[in-house]
Amino acid sequence: MLQGRKILLIVSGSVAAFKALMLVRLLRAEGAAVRAVLTAGGARFVTKEALAAITGEHVSDDLWAAEAEIGHIRLARWADAVVVAPASASRLAQMAQGLAEDLAGCILLATRAPVLVAPAMNPAMWAHAATAANVASLKARGVRFVGPEDGPMAEPESGPGRLSEPEQMADAVRSLLSDGPMKGRHIVVTAGPTQEPIDPVRYISNRSSGKQGYAIAAALSALGARVTLVSGPTNLAAPAGVALVRIESARDMLAACEAALPADAAIFAAAVADWRVAQEATQKLKKEPGAAAPTLTMALNPDILATVSKHAQRPRLVVGFAAETEHVVEHARQKLERKGCDWIVANDVSGDVFGGERNTVHLVTRTGVEDWPEMPKGEVATRLAARVAAFFQ
Ligand code: C5P
Repeated sequence: MLQGRKILLIVSGSVAAFKALMLVRLLRAEGAAVRAVLTAGGARFVTKEALAAITGEHVSDDLWAAEAEIGHIRLARWADAVVVAPASASRLAQMAQGLAEDLAGCILLATRAPVLVAPAMNPAMWAHAATAANVASLKARGVRFVGPEDGPMAEPESGPGRLSEPEQMADAVRSLLSDGPMKGRHIVVTAGPTQEPIDPVRYISNRSSGKQGYAIAAALSALGARVTLVSGPTNLAAPAGVALVRIESARDMLAACEAALPADAAIFAAAVADWRVAQEATQKLKKEPGAAAPTLTMALNPDILATVSKHAQRPRLVVGFAAETEHVVEHARQKLERKGCDWIVANDVSGDVFGGERNTVHLVTRTGVEDWPEMPKGEVATRLAARVAAFFQ
C-alpha cells in the first residue's frame, strides 16, 4: 500500500502519456499523494488540465514560474519517489547528462528520493547505442527502470519500446518504496535457457521456461531488492520493477552478469548450455544433394556460477541450482564444493519440472540440507527470497 506516500510524476513527451493518467489513478487509489510535472514534450500529448484534475493538485510545467518560490527544490524535497513516465529518449539523454534546462531536469538533479523511469519510444530509438549507454549510466547510478515492453507501437511497428502498463508501473512504484527487508540490496538473478548458435538461423537450446528464475526475481523485488534479471529467451514478461537484461548465449549471459556486479547476492537459476558449437558458421549451412550430414564440434561454455563465485567482486551470497535426476542431494553437495558457491537449490527434474508449475527442491548449504515439500514455483521463490533476506539480517 502507498498510503501517505508522496509521488512526483514527471510526464515527458510520448504518445503513451495517456497511461500516466491511469497510473495516477492507481497510485491515488492506494492512498498516495501525486503531484505532476509536465515537460514541454509531455504537454503535446496530455493537457495540464487533465493532469490537474486527476491528481487533484496544481501541475507545474514552468521552471521560471516556479522559481520565485524555488519550486524545483521544494518539489524535489517533497517527493518520497520521483517517477518519470513516460520517459522519452530525449529525457533519458538529459537525465544521463544531468542537464537542468527545465523544471523536470532541475528536480531530477535536486532530488534525493529514489527515481523510477518508464521509457517509451520507437524500438529503433530504444535499440540505439546512445540510448543503451544512457540507460546503462542511469542504472549504474541506481535509477530503477520498469519496461519498456515488447509490443505494437502507435506507428505500424512492433518491438521493445512500449510504455509499461499502468498496473506494472504501479507495482514498480510499490517496490521502489517498499520497506521490505531487502530494500537497498542489489541481487542478480539468471533465468531461462541459453541459445547456442550453429549458424545464423539454427541454434542448440533446452526446455527451460524461465518460470522459476522469474518468480525468484519477482519475490526478491517484492521484498524491496533492486533486481537485475539476466534472462535467456523466454515467453515471460519482465516482473514489475525488475531490470531485465535479455541475452541469448552463455557467453553473453556471463558478460551481462559481470556487467551487473557489484551485487549483494547472485542467484543462478538459468539452465545454461554446457557446450556451444565451436565454430559458428557465418552463413546458413547448406544441405547439398548427396552430401553427408555435417559434424558439429562442440566447445565448453564458461561456467557462470563458478566464475562469479571466484570473482574479484564476488557477491556475499552466491546461490546455484542443480537439476538432477538421481542422487540429488549428494550431487548438489559436490557441486557446492566444485563451484565455490554458498548454497545450492537442488531440484529433482525426473518429473516435468521444465516448463511445469511445480517444483520439489532441497536447499543445500555448507551447514546442512533442508528438504522442501513439493510446491508451486512461486512458493519456492517466496521461500528462497525469505531465506536470502534472513541471510542479510
Ligand atoms: O553444472 P551444472 O550445470 O549442473 O550447474 C548448475 C548451476 O550452475 C546452475 O545454477 C546454473 O545456472 C549454473 N551454470 C552456470 N554456467 C554454466 C553451467 C551452469 O552458471 N555454464
